[in-house]
Amino acid sequence: MSVNLATMLREGTKKSHSMAENVGFVKCFLKGVVEKESYRKLVTNLYYVYSAMEEEMEKQRQHPLVSKMYFPELNRKPSLEQDLFYYYGPNWREEISISPAGKAYVERIREVSNNRPELLISHLYTRYLGDLSGGQILKKIAKTAMKLEEGQGTSFYEFEAIADEKAFKNKYRETLDTLPIDEATAQDIVDEANAAFGMNMKLFNELEGNLVKAIGTMLFNTLTRRRSRGNTDTELAAAEN
Ligand code: HEM
Repeated sequence: MSVNLATMLREGTKKSHSMAENVGFVKCFLKGVVEKESYRKLVTNLYYVYSAMEEEMEKQRQHPLVSKMYFPELNRKPSLEQDLFYYYGPNWREEISISPAGKAYVERIREVSNNRPELLISHLYTRYLGDLSGGQILKKIAKTAMKLEEGQGTSFYEFEAIADEKAFKNKYRETLDTLPIDEATAQDIVDEANAAFGMNMKLFNELEGNLVKAIGTMLFNTLTRRRSRGNTDTELAAAEN
């Protein structure tokens, strides 16, 4: 027996998706306001999250259901490592640390893999289909906003082992649709996907404070620079008279 899990996931996470798009950090990102410090913190957390997800997928290679969603061409850990090298330098492993929201997310991935491995599918869906969908737009924004050199710091968005992302997404959805699961399990997978969206929102929310601080500093610097330039202009005018 199979249910239309791909459709259930799409319909069942619609609200979560629009909530995620409306988180301050994401909205700023889409408007091209991307601050390097916040961005590298996000890459760091994603590194821990994908490392856990991909490690647990390796462990579940023999699982009758989860193994059907094993697509190593999606793996992001190596590309995140490249990006971390770019943002932190060669000692990135000593420089990075996980945030509280990142830790909770990773713990949940480990927990579902140990107790209900089929719910790993929710985590794969939420991240990988999202990455395949918005990746190219986000890459362009990141590149322009952080003035990155060509091919630097954006490996995360490059699926080098996937030639046609749209075709791959269709294949992925078809695989979801043909999983032999019952309605109740499918509903649990949708619920977990909504929880995964929530975990992503928590990652973004943590960064919002950073971003607001950075924007505040930028504004403060601009204003004080303008004021001191104004003072200098007045002083010059006074000296000329
Ligand atoms: C930056 C804001 C975002 C934009 C502009 C965006 C945009 C999109 C678009 C246009 C699609 C449809 C692609 C298609 O039909 O093939 C999509 C799908 C998707 N997005 Fe996002 N997205 C954003 C944020 C997120 C976030 C934060 C997540 C989760 C972490 C996410 C997860 C997904 C998933 C799982 C799908 C696949 C839906 C499905 O077809 O089942 N997105 N996104």
